[in-house]
Amino acid sequence: MPAVIQQEQGIANALPALDLDFVRSQFPAFSEATLAGQAHFENAGGSYACRQVIERLHHYYRCTKVQPYYPSPAATEAGAQMDQAYVRLAEYLNVRPQEVHIGPSTSQNTATLAQAFAQVLQPGDEIIVTNQDHEANTGVWRRLTDAGMVIREWSIDPESGALDSAQLAQLISPRTRLLTLPHCSNIIGQINPVAEICQQAKAAGIITVVDGVSYAGHGLPDVTALGADIYLFSLYKVYGPHQGVMTIRTPIAEFLGNQSHFFNADPAHIHAHFVPAGPDHAQVAACNGVAEYFDALHQHHFGATQAPSASSKDTAHTTDSQQRAQRVAALMHAAEQALLPPLLDFLKQRNSVRLIGPQQAENRAPTLSIVPARQNPAELCAALAQHGIMAGSGHFYGYRAVKALGVNTQTGVLRLSFVHYTRAAEVEQLIRVLDQVLD
Ligand SMILES: Cc1ncc(COP(=O)(O)O)c(C=O)c1O
Repeated sequence: MPAVIQQEQGIANALPALDLDFVRSQFPAFSEATLAGQAHFENAGGSYACRQVIERLHHYYRCTKVQPYYPSPAATEAGAQMDQAYVRLAEYLNVRPQEVHIGPSTSQNTATLAQAFAQVLQPGDEIIVTNQDHEANTGVWRRLTDAGMVIREWSIDPESGALDSAQLAQLISPRTRLLTLPHCSNIIGQINPVAEICQQAKAAGIITVVDGVSYAGHGLPDVTALGADIYLFSLYKVYGPHQGVMTIRTPIAEFLGNQSHFFNADPAHIHAHFVPAGPDHAQVAACNGVAEYFDALHQHHFGATQAPSASSKDTAHTTDSQQRAQRVAALMHAAEQALLPPLLDFLKQRNSVRLIGPQQAENRAPTLSIVPARQNPAELCAALAQHGIMAGSGHFYGYRAVKALGVNTQTGVLRLSFVHYTRAAEVEQLIRVLDQVLD
């Protein structure tokens, strides 16, 4: 059994039940009158923001909205808030703070990365991409054919949407330099065995770029345990501000080199190296709020733990923070897994819809795409909205996956996605409404 799963199982055995009243008290949206009666099932598009993030944004704009890092008290505090965000995210991801980069979005971050790789790869070098990915982690790599790179596609099974590891082995050649893949597809919902895949890639000297956007909202991963050289996700789907986070292991960052202004090439400006757009100061500072929400979840369910020390800034984080991160992820995961079976069972017994991806809760994120045989997903989505269900329809930029599954890319799928703050009563409401609107 992989070490990551063993670790998770150990934690799951000692896990308290998630206190949903507490959880929802951390999200102002749940006490917002204009949202009352609305059940949020488009979390794969964007989650609600936790209060810690909203308070951080408010504080930044109100008290420290000046150019950071100058000597004035407000500027010094602004810079300190930003520095702290890298430290706090690094703790939860089990990487070093200097390996965390915060840019405008994952799409922008992969675009910068692809530009960087174009400069260091050689014509004829091979890149393995998938057709399971969101376009953000496939289109930019495919475009490197313009620089002479050769693209090999790791294709999904057209029925199940799964990626087969045996096929990956056949695609690897002595010229393979890069493997790009999703931790979890935003359409198919299957959680890929990323630790095993990264190990396989590492053994062949291949750099891995893992899109964790559809995974991270269900519990931040231990990036060191996963073994991903580059790991990306978007905080606006992880209860935070609209920012893309990417971790780049130090040797890879050094190999790629500074992508920003030439005079910022020294290590002191590492957080600028892969963010040529320049940082959104307030939003970077607000990233602390996500860590603070996870801290609050941990404290409420497990009691107080040691506060992060200033000395953790330049070191890989401590066992204490790793344990905190694992417990928080396990809490969220357990709550979601408990809600999945009734919804999966309902959709599976409905003959008029095709449920994409794993049919069981195991190895599945609660991101469920369905294709109605005779109804239009956009019309169904509108019908759900009339009954207080917020869902989404279309291809969700997982265009290639939708096409490979044999689904009409114009109409796409109806997507229903939830997270740990979703109540069983909301899932029941969703099932009742689906029962009414599906033919
Ligand atoms: C799986 C996946 N990858 C990448 C992205 C792109 O993220 P961003 O909107 O931050 O560019 C998305 C956005 O929906 C996504 O779902």
